[in-house]
Amino acid sequence: MGNFIISNKELQHLAMKVAYKLNYELSTYELRVFADGESKITIKQINADRIILIHSINPPVDSNLIRVASLIHEAKKYSNSVIAVVPYMGYARQDKMFLDGEIITIEVVAKLLEAVGVSAIIVLDIHSDFALQKFNVPIINVSVVPAIVEHINKLKLANPIIVSPDFGGSNRARSISEIVGSEHLVLRKHRDKKTGRIKIRFNKINHINNRDIVLVDDMISTGNSIINAVEILKKNKCGKIFVVCTHAILIGDAKDRIIKSGVEKIISANTITGHEDIDMSSLISKSIKDIISKI
Ligand code: R5P
Repeated sequence: MGNFIISNKELQHLAMKVAYKLNYELSTYELRVFADGESKITIKQINADRIILIHSINPPVDSNLIRVASLIHEAKKYSNSVIAVVPYMGYARQDKMFLDGEIITIEVVAKLLEAVGVSAIIVLDIHSDFALQKFNVPIINVSVVPAIVEHINKLKLANPIIVSPDFGGSNRARSISEIVGSEHLVLRKHRDKKTGRIKIRFNKINHINNRDIVLVDDMISTGNSIINAVEILKKNKCGKIFVVCTHAILIGDAKDRIIKSGVEKIISANTITGHEDIDMSSLISKSIKDIISKI
């Protein structure tokens, strides 16, 4: 018997660090994807006191969701205590009914993970408190803000402004700016509820002239929110722009498009490939210890 960590291939680097910090053993699983898209998963049988699964629900979202659910279901056969660390929780943006009849899919995700027997969950900067409230097992939402602040300080920018591209990110921008000791600014993003198309209204912002910007968001998917924000900030003649996010999903050529739009660098936490700039292994390890004391 012992304590084991299982992770998907992408997050193996992160899992290795967590395993080292907690003195857990690493175990693996094999994945084959059938021609029709089904996931065929084979895991090494283990006798475990506790199993930690580290696996994001990033694109392909539905496939990764079923992989996470299947791995929890199987792990329960080997241990009563199965904790899922889901650094990026897909579907968390579907946390409210925006138009009549829309399904709040994060509720379905929560029910699914609970039904297969997850003992507790750890997420990183989940999209919203509404999403968090849908879970009925012990859950910790680890804030990436302290790690982001550390990284911003390393950039050694003089008098930067912390900017959120939308109102939803205003608390994050404000708390980062309070710790960094700088100003913050919230842009007004409008998303068409039917098409999903976004538009950030042009604001005349006088005080950003020549000042460096740190644009922060919880996640970057298509990159359109960031690119729209960069356009407004450039029109207002800001200095250099750095982008910091927790989850760098970066669909297709999003990264190139963002850099081309005039961004110096995209900095993110290691929630998707495990290799990104901001290492969350210490905070994840601490949260695992915290959640174990609650279950
Ligand atoms: C939206 O509310 C989120 O906080 C992000 O701003 C958004 O999901 C980013 O998506 P995209 O990169 O596709 O604009």
